[in-house]
Amino acid sequence: MKIGIFGGGQLGRMMALASYPFNLRFSFYDAAKDCPSAPLGQLFGDTQASVESLDAFIASADVFTYEFENIPVAWVERIAAQKPVYPSVKSLAVSQNRLNEKALFKQLAIPAAAYREVNSPDDLIQTVQELGLPLVIKTTMGGYDGKGQFVLRDSKDVAQAWAELERGAPLIAEAFVTFERELSIIAVRSQTGEVRCYPLALNTHHQGILSHSIVPAPQISAATKAQAEQYITQILNELDHVGVLTLELFDTAQGLYANETAPRVHNSGHWSIEGAVCSQFENHMRAVAGLPLGVTEAIRPSAMINIIGQHPNTADILAIPETHLHLYGKSERSGRKLGHITITASTYQALQERIAQVAAHLPNKMAL
Ligand SMILES: Nc1ncnc2c1ncn2[C@@H]1O[C@H](COP(=O)(O)OP(=O)(O)OP(=O)(O)O)[C@@H](O)[C@H]1O
Ligand SMILES: [Mg+2]
Repeated sequence: MKIGIFGGGQLGRMMALASYPFNLRFSFYDAAKDCPSAPLGQLFGDTQASVESLDAFIASADVFTYEFENIPVAWVERIAAQKPVYPSVKSLAVSQNRLNEKALFKQLAIPAAAYREVNSPDDLIQTVQELGLPLVIKTTMGGYDGKGQFVLRDSKDVAQAWAELERGAPLIAEAFVTFERELSIIAVRSQTGEVRCYPLALNTHHQGILSHSIVPAPQISAATKAQAEQYITQILNELDHVGVLTLELFDTAQGLYANETAPRVHNSGHWSIEGAVCSQFENHMRAVAGLPLGVTEAIRPSAMINIIGQHPNTADILAIPETHLHLYGKSERSGRKLGHITITASTYQALQERIAQVAAHLPNKMAL
């Protein structure tokens, strides 16, 4: 079976690497000829994003999926009119728009920050009056790694916030959630509606970018775990989602709050390649191909550390026991995700010691 993957970044690359062993083959749609997935399949796409290039891609595979959500819904609809696409157009339309996402949380009674749609500086002033400060202002579409956001702490900065983000309007203004830590849960749903959840990840960000994750997140009560699993299962079932979905969460004194969803494999799930019985990438491809799901349990405590901006020395990292290096074949650039390192250990204490060893070899130490 040939799977067409929309997007040729590192997520597509790891999907292909995970499912090549059970003989899936791939084509990718990405205009960048040197994208991370290029060595793993046939590459389609041109810089004009022509309909011809899309149709050639559609002709190249049996079943389709995507590795990022910032793609036009119309394109996925065009694929869906001809061949199966998982996750469905509905999952994409909800996850790529923060207003749709928040409306879904509300519909399912999943706690989330209070919010308003913002179409003008006056809307912003009105929202400050209604929700107070600080507010987190975001573009409704297209944001990633904290881009397209402004934290409004003082109403005298309304004009500046609007000026910085207005090109991305409509905007969403969210009440600031005071959280103790950030968590995420990843789950996979099969074509028959079976849902399996990975353990919660504890995520640390640095300058808006995920720095590292520890999984299973330490000190999670049975009630918190059950709550997170219930929320993501509700979302998966409501969307009739097939494949992996991620729910980012704030852990607060009032319990879990939903932040956002991603209709795909997620950076906070990269640990699962070595740390889980069946990785998020393999499970996504199993679901897309209509195959039985794999076990989502963690084998041991794991840490995933992002390599951002600058590469470490490969031999230095690989010299550390129980440490795995994944490089995406990208050139160095400030703030760019170039790869990640996974560490597994038998105890959390041993894991922390290994993290410190890895940190000593990273050119860009982030928030480790
Ligand atoms: N309402 C909020 N209250 C407090 N902090 C917030 C809020 N919204 C976002 N943040 C902080 O900003 C970070 C990035 O926000 P968000 O996840 O919405 O954007 P993103 O650009 O899609 O991120 P990513 O691509 O890294 O997932 C969050 O992980 C959190 O640390
Ligand atoms: Mg996020």
